[in-house]
Amino acid sequence: MRVAMVGTGYVGLVSGTCFAEMGAVVACIDNDAAKIKRLRNGQIPIYEPGLDELVKKNKAAGRLTFHDNIRQGIAGADIVFIAVGTPTGIYEGQTDLSYVYAAAEEIASYLQQGTLVVTKSTVPVKTGERIRKIISKKNKGLKFQVASNPEFLREGCAIKDFLEPDRIIIGVESQTARRKLEKLYAPLLDRNVPILVTDVKTAELTKYAANAFLATKIAFVNEVADLCEKTGANIEDVSAGMGLDHRIGKDYMKPGPGYGGSCFPKDTRSLVYTANKLGAPTHIVATVIEANERRKLNMVDKISEAAQGALRGKKIAVLGLAFKANTDDMRDSSSLVIIPELLKAGAIIRAHDPEAISHARNLLSGNIVWCEDKEAALKGADMAVIITEWKEYAQLDLAATKKLLKKPLIVDLRNLYTLEEMEKAGFTYVSIGRNPVTKIKARK
Ligand code: UDX
Repeated sequence: MRVAMVGTGYVGLVSGTCFAEMGAVVACIDNDAAKIKRLRNGQIPIYEPGLDELVKKNKAAGRLTFHDNIRQGIAGADIVFIAVGTPTGIYEGQTDLSYVYAAAEEIASYLQQGTLVVTKSTVPVKTGERIRKIISKKNKGLKFQVASNPEFLREGCAIKDFLEPDRIIIGVESQTARRKLEKLYAPLLDRNVPILVTDVKTAELTKYAANAFLATKIAFVNEVADLCEKTGANIEDVSAGMGLDHRIGKDYMKPGPGYGGSCFPKDTRSLVYTANKLGAPTHIVATVIEANERRKLNMVDKISEAAQGALRGKKIAVLGLAFKANTDDMRDSSSLVIIPELLKAGAIIRAHDPEAISHARNLLSGNIVWCEDKEAALKGADMAVIITEWKEYAQLDLAATKKLLKKPLIVDLRNLYTLEEMEKAGFTYVSIGRNPVTKIKARK
């Protein structure tokens, strides 16, 4: 199959590369000529484990090419995917679809008869209808179809999520479109990956509903964690106990500093906006958004309490800036709320992240020392705060960490350690939804 992928951002590049890996001949297209040049030279613009090797391999095999010329890129394509960005628009929650519509407009004149146009970008329900209208208006007489095929890729494990998905969702208008997409996904369908075939609007909405539901799970567990802190119950066990019920499931049940990233915050807001506009408000999702915002600020109170209210002049080693581990993405990261609040309270931040520092530098300013390694951040700090669950923070040499810190005080917003090991190592340890380990006196 010949596939054209319009947009080489996160979704477009990962999807295009994975389709090539599955045997399709893929042309990735972007109007950013400099980016295309870099991709042709093997430079990958995003941090995603395994992506550069896969690009290299499929490029060498002749299945993956990069184009800044849309006409050239989509020539001969059986399926054209639209995978451009859908940022937040000017109104709270509204989705800016200008890139999607511009892409539809740009491809319209060059589509061959019978082409299938598929949205991979996350777009509000009924966007497919608008795409159809734009193309029909520009290229009268063209026979084409519109479909929706949402992605469910998590940053940091996007390749695995693409090649070993839980399910494939396709929204189509005809059996021809269905057959084309089934042929494209045949290598996965042969391995019995479930496929749900539905109409375009339903596929569009499924993506938002799935993300909003996962966000709800997280927000719910975070609130139960607060209750655990008030009562002395243990959130890890509550969460595991709930998750063992297969109707609830164990995933997305980890408490933390509030969800972030490029999808959950944007998609939940977008769903609320669309639902309000259509007169079917999603009250639950609206509350989840509010609870998640509050959560980030509550983390500041937690840190302040651990420091006994005295943040002014305190050196705080912040371990982790990205919204989660294995990504350099800072979008809607809790660190972007927590750090400015700590700075406002007069703290001095010693920040470390294995991948996200260069992005973080552009987003945060003030009394921050950017540290090359975690040891530099910890050295001489009054306390450490773990915001992101990077493996290297879960495997700290606790004895060495204790020596580096001025006081053995750790606030862990990801529950990376057991209370027992922290007690044994002699730390004052404050985590989420669990009793604090408090009996240790400051090192003389
Ligand atoms: C998400 C969806 O999972 C993916 O299907 C969708 O297509 C894009 O959005 P991603 O943003 O990469 O993927 O991150 P994900 O791993 O889902 O985590 C989102 C946020 O939730 C992170 O801030 C993470 O730390 C937080 N989280 C996740 C929790 O706090 N607890 C959990 O149990 C799981």
